[in-house]
Amino acid sequence: MSGDSLPRESWETTPYQHLTLSRRGFAAVVTLNRPEVRNAFNATLIAELADAFERLSNANDIRAIVLQGAGKLFSAGADLNWMGASMAYTHDDNIADALKMSDMLRAIDTCRHPVIGRLHGAALGGGVGLAAVCDLVIAAEGTLFGFTEARLGIAPAVISQFVVPKIGQSQARALFITAEQFDARKALDIGLIHKVVPAEQLDEAITATLLAIGANGPAGVRAGKLLARTVTQLEPSEASETTAATIASLRVSEEGQEGIRAFLEKRAPRWKRDDV
Ligand code: COA
Repeated sequence: MSGDSLPRESWETTPYQHLTLSRRGFAAVVTLNRPEVRNAFNATLIAELADAFERLSNANDIRAIVLQGAGKLFSAGADLNWMGASMAYTHDDNIADALKMSDMLRAIDTCRHPVIGRLHGAALGGGVGLAAVCDLVIAAEGTLFGFTEARLGIAPAVISQFVVPKIGQSQARALFITAEQFDARKALDIGLIHKVVPAEQLDEAITATLLAIGANGPAGVRAGKLLARTVTQLEPSEASETTAATIASLRVSEEGQEGIRAFLEKRAPRWKRDDV
C-alpha cells in the first residue's frame, strides 16, 4: 500500500522551465522557481503549474503536495511585464489568457491529494490566489499579504472565485477595495491561512503537517478533501446521498477495515507513513 514498489511516475521526470518538482518521502514538493522576479507568474509558469498539478493529481505514489517559492518570497503574483504586454493582445486573447489562469488555479484546487502551502516573505495578488487553493497554509511570521491589483488599476478578478469562498464576502470587499497589505496574523484571522510560525520553524511545521497526513488513510484524506470542498454546493438530498455513499464505501474498504482493526488491536495501521 505504500506505493514504494510502483515504478517512478512521469511527474518526477517532467522538465519545467520555471518550476522544480521533487520528492520528499510520500510527498511531492512543487517549487515556484523564478526568484529573480519574485516568482511572478507568466504564461509559461501558469501552463507549467497546471500541467504539474494535473499530473500530480493522477499520481498514485504520493499522499500530499507541498507548494513553495524559491528565494526571498513565495510569490509576487502575476508577472507585470507579461500583463503589460497584453496591450498588444485582442480582447479574445486576453480572455483566453485569463481562462488559463483560472484553469491553473482550478487544477490545484481540485487536485486529489492534499496541497500544503509553505509561505514566506510575501504573497501578493495572484500569489494570494495560490494560497487560497491550498488545503492548508503555514506562513512564516512576517509574511506580507495583499490584493494589490487595484493599486495597479486592475482587480483581483480570476482569483476572486477562490479567495471569496475562503475569506468571505465581508473581508474580500474591504481588502479588494483598499488593496492594503496585511500581515500573517490577519491572514490567519480571516481564514486565508492556518498557522503562523517563526521563520526558523517553518520546515518543522511543514514536516509535522505531513506526518499528520501520513498517519491517516489516504483514501479517507482524499474523500475528506473532496467533501469539504464540495458539500455545501450540493442540494440537501444530494448531500445526504453523496455523504452516505462516501462513508458506506469507505467503511467496508480495505483501508477502512484496516484502520478500524488497527485501533481495536492497539497498533499502527499498515498504511501509516512517516518518511518525510
Ligand atoms: N512582476 C514582474 N516582475 C516583478 C514582480 C511582478 N509581479 N514583482 C517583482 N518583480 C521584479 C522587479 O521588477 C525586480 O526586477 P529588477 O531586478 O529587474 O528590477 C525584481 O523582481 C525584484 O523586485 P524588487 O521590488 O526589487 O524586490 P523586493 O524584494 O524589494 O520587493 C515585492 C518584492 C514583491 C514586495 C515588490 O517587487 C512588489 O511589490 N511587486 C509587485 C507585486 C504586485 O503588486 N503583484 C500583483 C500583480 S497583479
